Amino acid sequence: MSGLLGDTAARDYSRKLRLFNAFAEPELRQAIASLDVAPGASVLDAGCGTGEVLRWFADAVGPDGTVIGIDLASAHATAARACAPAQALVLQADLLHAPLRAASFDRVWCMNTINHLHDPVAGTQLLASLLQPAGRIALCQSSLLPDMYFAWDARLERLVNEAVRQYYRDRYGISERDLAAVRSLVGVLRRAQLGNVRAHTFAIERVFPLGAADEAYLAEAIFRDSWGARLQPYLSSDDYDELARLCDPQHPQFALHRTDFHFLQTFTVVSGER
Ligand SMILES: C[S@@+](CC[C@H](N)C(=O)[O-])C[C@H]1O[C@@H](n2cnc3c(N)ncnc32)[C@H](O)[C@@H]1O
Repeated sequence: MSGLLGDTAARDYSRKLRLFNAFAEPELRQAIASLDVAPGASVLDAGCGTGEVLRWFADAVGPDGTVIGIDLASAHATAARACAPAQALVLQADLLHAPLRAASFDRVWCMNTINHLHDPVAGTQLLASLLQPAGRIALCQSSLLPDMYFAWDARLERLVNEAVRQYYRDRYGISERDLAAVRSLVGVLRRAQLGNVRAHTFAIERVFPLGAADEAYLAEAIFRDSWGARLQPYLSSDDYDELARLCDPQHPQFALHRTDFHFLQTFTVVSGER
């Protein structure tokens, strides 16, 4: 059975993951730093994708620490092995059936992944069972939709956000409630019986002029590969034409080259202890 959002061992969206991690690297490193990972600690990245985070955790734990990544998708695990430092171990496996020892990690990091499981609470309980006593699990999630990307046109932004929601609901056949369940990480940790729950939200904020990693992520992963013609059925033809102009790097109205471009998205880390 595939995951709630269509993940399988054969699925590959490694390019999108790489673009996001290069884009959000400063904020993701801040999030990692907020977890107080001690030198020598053992860390599991559950749903490690293309493995950039493994590198950053390896910096935090140092040569005496342990970093393990696990991912269902073989293309993602292969990419993670290529990206991770030699000391990190990457397993291609379902985290729900992971060949990992109970009570063996100081930190479990699970980023943009718990919402891909059919039962996030059961998944969280299972991951928490891998923690040593007083170990901490961090569920991390970028907001489903950015808070702002067309600062000069709130109406079009609202219509595009609604089109994206409808597209996802149709694509994955899930209700709005399930789609938006990523908002309730605090509830997931509470229901999984974790204690000392903390939440910290980081703002991923960019203004014109953008750096290369920012432009690559927004133009390729969002404008072209997530939106594009997929949104056409959900917008009027005038609104779709306007969106197409704003998303076209060759067009004089390309959003990312506007001097008033201002992007804002949240990234939330909710953590709890066993
Ligand atoms: C949205 S991606 C996030 C990847 C990475 N954490 C990041 O933020 O860049 C979700 C990842 O979870 C993996 N995944 C989904 N279900 C999984 C499962 N049951 N066991 C292990 N990995 C899973 C997918 O293959 C994918 O790499």
